[in-house]
Amino acid sequence: MDKVLAIETSCDDTSVAVVDSKFWVHSMASAHQNQVHEKFGGIVPELASRNHSYHLLALVEACLKEAKLGWADMDALAVTSRPGLVGSLIVGLVTAKTLAAAQNKKFIGVDHLEGHLWSIFLRDAQHTPPPGFKAPYLALVVSGGHTHMYHVKSLNKICLIGRSLDDAAGEAFDKFAHLMGLPFPGGVQVDRLARQGDRQAFKLPRALMKKQNYEFSFSGLKASAARLLETMSSEEKKARQHDLCASFQEAVVDVLLYKLTQATELLKPSRVAIVGGVSANSRLRIRAQAWATEHSLQLALPPLRYCTDNAAMIGCVGVERLARGESSALDLPATAN
Ligand code: KG4
Ligand code: ZN
Repeated sequence: MDKVLAIETSCDDTSVAVVDSKFWVHSMASAHQNQVHEKFGGIVPELASRNHSYHLLALVEACLKEAKLGWADMDALAVTSRPGLVGSLIVGLVTAKTLAAAQNKKFIGVDHLEGHLWSIFLRDAQHTPPPGFKAPYLALVVSGGHTHMYHVKSLNKICLIGRSLDDAAGEAFDKFAHLMGLPFPGGVQVDRLARQGDRQAFKLPRALMKKQNYEFSFSGLKASAARLLETMSSEEKKARQHDLCASFQEAVVDVLLYKLTQATELLKPSRVAIVGGVSANSRLRIRAQAWATEHSLQLALPPLRYCTDNAAMIGCVGVERLARGESSALDLPATAN
């Protein structure tokens, strides 16, 4: 069975995984840089690439050790080549190319979004994907950089049918969290605080809900939340933080599910996937499950470890490419978009 060593360094998470052609994750080792960027309230690209270069080779070794496998067992190196922060991508790409050349393995460049789309197929000792889940399916990628809706007709025929016109859903969560004075990255903090909040406490807008299309917009929600917070003292914000987070989160989830409903009405899929960092959101997961049941749809949500950026999803695309006999040239560039 083919095995791929996969590397993901497109943003601020450094991750390495070993995945086989049954999409089984033999091991995954990741390093997060949240503390590095926290004091800046966002990702500093130069620091991100520097930290990738500190951690990457040690993670490669740790990953092979955990999988109890060696280079002789690997058939290829797969790495994210786009989109992302160019400096961060370059660290992963140069490392993967060098290892592929030194170990005489195939080299495969992977699109990060394709990785998220395929994360639903990953399996390990704790997780099995929904039985029989396969293309065609409707997919929503909700992350820090993207809010994209796709019609995945087959695994090499992926059609973008809608996207955010401005901020991505995760970006909106992070910016709102920053205004609330919460640590970076904010999405998970908003999720945590929202659990004890009143979701109807504050009235916030849901954009483009009357439009018959699959476009999203979160900048109006962010601006309304900012205006609301400006009217509150820091004591008041602190006292109402649970309600504020719950109201904001509900607005985002309402929009995501409304647009998914519109898309399912038109495309009539029987399967839907929600992937990317924001698919880790507990309220979105609960409401999406209920929504899928109500609409008789099979829903695939990755387990939390495969929602946020990770190398296993890159390995998943890598093994599939390898099975199709595809590989990339060693001069493949890092591409921002
Ligand atoms: O997929 P991802 O790790 O990186 C990108 O490709 O962008 O997504 C990161 C985004 C961040 O904006 C983060 O705040 C958000 O996912 N996120 C969440 C949660 N966990 C991560 N947003 C809401 N609720 C969560 N539990
Ligand atoms: Zn991502």
